[in-house]
Amino acid sequence: MIVLSVCNHKGGTGKTTTAIHVAAALGLTGVRTLVIDLDPQGFLTRTLDVEEGNPDRTVAALFDPSVDPQSLAVQHVSGFDVIPSSNSLTKRMRELNKPTDVLWVREALQRAELGYDLVLFDTAAAVTVYSLNALVASQHVLIPVLPEYQAVVGAEQTYQTTELVEDKLNPMLQSRTFLLTQVDGRKRIHRTYQQYLREKYTEIVLDNVIRTSTSLAESREGGTTVFDHDSSARGARDYANATDELLRHIQRVEAADLSPDPGPEDGSIDPEDVPLPDEAMNS
Ligand SMILES: Nc1ncnc2c1ncn2[C@@H]1O[C@H](COP(=O)(O)OP(=O)(O)O)[C@@H](O)[C@H]1O
Ligand SMILES: [Mg+2]
Repeated sequence: MIVLSVCNHKGGTGKTTTAIHVAAALGLTGVRTLVIDLDPQGFLTRTLDVEEGNPDRTVAALFDPSVDPQSLAVQHVSGFDVIPSSNSLTKRMRELNKPTDVLWVREALQRAELGYDLVLFDTAAAVTVYSLNALVASQHVLIPVLPEYQAVVGAEQTYQTTELVEDKLNPMLQSRTFLLTQVDGRKRIHRTYQQYLREKYTEIVLDNVIRTSTSLAESREGGTTVFDHDSSARGARDYANATDELLRHIQRVEAADLSPDPGPEDGSIDPEDVPLPDEAMNS
């Protein structure tokens, strides 16, 4: 099962829009996808009109060892499933202050037998115990980045956080990818920051970009995705192409990682064996 976090420490860079539309695009290609809303503010949950319901059956239950992850209120939306966020996450955050509290979600995913090909986390704009839980449970990170100053700074900080998580907490975190979002080709600043990211991070910046599109902003009103409204709209085509490229990238990374040495049986690998990002990028 592929586990992917959508993450950027800056808000408004298109994380939630990306989580929804990547999941919808995956669903259309037959990839069984579960989206877990780990943002306590629950924008994804609300955007998709998913009922929060009893907190014991929301994402909050992943932080409670007495709850069986199988009993979670998984809800089906446009071609994929969602585990909703919960208001109770904000209150619960104060109690989640032990170093081991970053392991809850990974352990819940290991315990549960979820019949999905891919699990995708939407995260909040800050480094919290929840976004760390997502990164600790993931093998891949997608960093949506608006090509403007603050979002690029946030994206680079996020990249560094993922390296730290790989070093200290999760050697299975194999890849990060940048996705440029809300791109306006007429803006010089957008071209400048795009070029900056492509030169610095080379092939881990997806070739496909998400352009600004009213279809993406509009489709959020109705509780469904742009694919339901107009699959030929610019936003739908951009997310379909980017998702296709992302999936091929993930498959390449997984194939490269599995062939020579699958690592110890228990799934934990020696951090020394994990290629550094530079090596991974040049290989
Ligand atoms: N490609 C796009 N074109 C136009 N508006 C977009 C696009 N992507 C996102 N938006 C809008 O930008 C705002 C922030 O996006 P969102 O996905 O909520 O970001 P984040 O989750 O990173 O805070 C939302 O109002 C959303 O509708
Ligand atoms: Mg969001």
